[in-house]
Amino acid sequence: MNNAVAGFSKLSKKEKINWIVNEYFSTPEEAHNIIRNYWNSDEKLQQLHDEFIENTITNFYIPLGVAPNFLINGKNKTIPMAIEESSVVAAASKSAKYWATRGGFKTTVIDTEKIGQVHFTFNGDAQKLEVLFNLIKPKFFSETKSITKNMQLRGGGILDIQLKDKRNLLANYFQLHATFETKDSMGANFINSCLEQFATTLKEEAQNADLEIEVIMSILSNYVPNCIVRAEVSCPVKDLTEKHITNPQDFAERFVQAVQIAEVEPYRAVTHNKGIMNGVDAVVLATGNDFRAVEAGVHAYASRNGQYSSLSHAKIENGVFTFWLEIPLALGTVGGLTSLHPLVKLCLEILQKPSAKELMEIIAVAGLAQNFAALRSLTTTGIQEGHMKMHLNNIINQFEANEQERLLIKTHFKKIAVSHSAVVEFIENLRK
Ligand code: MEV
Repeated sequence: MNNAVAGFSKLSKKEKINWIVNEYFSTPEEAHNIIRNYWNSDEKLQQLHDEFIENTITNFYIPLGVAPNFLINGKNKTIPMAIEESSVVAAASKSAKYWATRGGFKTTVIDTEKIGQVHFTFNGDAQKLEVLFNLIKPKFFSETKSITKNMQLRGGGILDIQLKDKRNLLANYFQLHATFETKDSMGANFINSCLEQFATTLKEEAQNADLEIEVIMSILSNYVPNCIVRAEVSCPVKDLTEKHITNPQDFAERFVQAVQIAEVEPYRAVTHNKGIMNGVDAVVLATGNDFRAVEAGVHAYASRNGQYSSLSHAKIENGVFTFWLEIPLALGTVGGLTSLHPLVKLCLEILQKPSAKELMEIIAVAGLAQNFAALRSLTTTGIQEGHMKMHLNNIINQFEANEQERLLIKTHFKKIAVSHSAVVEFIENLRK
């Protein structure tokens, strides 16, 4: 079969769908129905989604849930989460409830600096380049005035621009390394527009000074180690007691050890941090932010000391248990999808229209809460008990159980450990 197609993007939506269903499905009408079932009946809303990307054929849903009762810096918050993994929202809610009676979450935004670079090559006298750079540095600011004007009114703008000699890494490689404050916007367009103007200015001025430079590319960095937020929970060890924590000292020690393992062992660190990102990504997505950017930046940060390590830390000091994390988060609460996507707007309303800094705090808390829930289960009952309970619905749905079967399955597995095979066996017996 030849699946290549010419001029696909120029086809109408209907033609694109027809091509897909006829090319890849033995029962095109069935595929057509699935695609159509996920359309929104509100044409304007559907058109909005169609136009987010190219070649849209339908919508891809994931659930939007909420985790209430998060006490953050003394204020109560309900956190919206867009995620398909069954146990995540339940775990967040449990952590929120647990810590709400133990002082809640405390957060601090440590810094909000963003970074962008113009990468270029220069094969000449580096001192001459430096002299030129220092001479034209004010021009980088003046020639971006039309781009920075509004950002400056909001208190942001270009913080600094440096020339960096990177020839120890790559032949003839230099950079303009620029730092930015973008306030409540994530700032990707702002930063990239500034960088492209820097590149134009640099090229022109180098040409005037008879220096031959070649700009390779201008782009923001998603590595933002100076755009950092910290979230923390803390309470006397004795207050950790609850249903599954009958010996709080023992629990606290095991918990700290579990974190220490993730600090020193990359195989564990990746899974440990994945648990944190369950919470982080779900809120990043619900608030219309770029989860790929956040993921890339967070994992680079987790490797900043040369080995991939835990993003969270824990200690017991003077009878007090403290658990915290620090993560880089470049987020926006204005611009991008925030005013375009109705559900993003709704989620930001639920969060009481946070500033980008407040959103950094909320998302760090979601990550810490998720990590706490995972480690609490892992160091006490094991992860499968809660996980499989939540997954039971998925298995039931897979087997298209009817109402009566559902009730019987749920009642049976209230008392018995859920495993995929046990549920399958139970359903098969029911249907015999
Ligand atoms: C599952 O999505 C996340 C966990 O594996 C995280 C962890 O192991 O810490 C439970």
